[in-house]
Amino acid sequence: MLTQKETDFLTQTDKGTPMGDLFRRYWHPFLLTTELPENDGAPVRVRLLGEDLIVFRDTNGKVGLIDERCPHRGASLFFAINQECGLMCIYHGWKFDVNGDCVDMPSDLPGSNFKDKVHVASYPCIESAGAIWTYMGPAENKPQVPSYVMNVLPEENVMATRTMIYCNYLQSIEGNLDSTHLGTLHLYYDNMIPADLEYDKPGHPSPRFSNYITGTQKYARIDVQDTDYGYRLIAVRKTPKGNQHIRINNLALPVMTWIASSGGNGAVFTQLPVDDHNCMRVGFIVRPDKPFTAGERQAAESQAALLQDPDNPKLRLKRMDNDYHQDRVAQKTTNPPGIWPIPEQDYAVTETMGVIMDRTKEHLYHGDAAVIRLRQMLGKAARDLQEGVEPPGLNGGIAYHKIRSEDIVIGPNDDPWLVATDAGESTGRGERLR
Ligand code: FES
Ligand SMILES: [Fe+2]
Repeated sequence: MLTQKETDFLTQTDKGTPMGDLFRRYWHPFLLTTELPENDGAPVRVRLLGEDLIVFRDTNGKVGLIDERCPHRGASLFFAINQECGLMCIYHGWKFDVNGDCVDMPSDLPGSNFKDKVHVASYPCIESAGAIWTYMGPAENKPQVPSYVMNVLPEENVMATRTMIYCNYLQSIEGNLDSTHLGTLHLYYDNMIPADLEYDKPGHPSPRFSNYITGTQKYARIDVQDTDYGYRLIAVRKTPKGNQHIRINNLALPVMTWIASSGGNGAVFTQLPVDDHNCMRVGFIVRPDKPFTAGERQAAESQAALLQDPDNPKLRLKRMDNDYHQDRVAQKTTNPPGIWPIPEQDYAVTETMGVIMDRTKEHLYHGDAAVIRLRQMLGKAARDLQEGVEPPGLNGGIAYHKIRSEDIVIGPNDDPWLVATDAGESTGRGERLR
């Protein structure tokens, strides 16, 4: 449970709030490169951390992210003409480059240099892993772009996605760090039928065996292992032969998460605040040993298109106002939520908590250990920053590229805590909950 004051502190990320200051000290992916395909193409509106911004690709292919409001008299630069290395406001013709500098003011007095004094707020951008990333903090504190696995692999081995979620970021990211909902929210009844039992031995199991374990072992012991960048969440379940099935998720503050998935692919998701009532999931599926083919990418795009509202491709098709297309028959025959597919199941439960969940009414239990730790870490980092203490994970010394999620079976006497430590980059410390 949190007080309303603590909830406000953690959930508000507009400019000038402590949590907003914390988020603005990290690089964040916010748009797919495929959403900004052409030099001098149409600018795109984005809202990030409560700020209305315009992103555009200039004549040379450079990406700019600037305040939507023209600093002259506030016309929207979404409607600007994108040409010759800048956006020209359609009201009086002031023009701005990717750095936010005013490079032309054709309607000014002849001989005036007023344009040299005018800038529009702008944020640096880079492109990596099929996404555009930005840093919205003070220039003097700009860290290196983190070497997350998707940023060091060739782009062919990464598939990026972006989805809008219609609730506050915190309840959304808490869902990424909550292992005990797997056996209910993501259960498909078929997975309760024993299968692939030959994988009940130390090693990487088949996805089907993992689903059987998470679907039938509702209880998971949760350990939270602190790291220099956030933490590792270790969920341990018993297998029929007495081995241990463990899933390791990782958090890099403030909101980058590595989600355990069986079958060799890794999934990394961030839930970045759009404003206090919405967030966006930018996800990266990584497959280090094998590039994704054009056919696989196309299939993923077609699948994603099925989940967008045909009348408004920027809206998700399954939303609270249509009860996520819940199927009450499927609920008793296919899967408990009666909602498809898996991400929509997560959106349904987190969005219907209310846009900002009332945490004064919750009752947390053992399975929420990682949720509690997330709140503690975010709160501490934000409070520390107000006192001048630098946020975690930004000193350049973190081997981010080594962070991996895991889905693995270990022997009855193996220590999950040590397995998790070996899988990551730094020595484990934190809460061993047994
Ligand atoms: S409002 Fe943009 S140039 Fe005047
Ligand atoms: Fe989930």
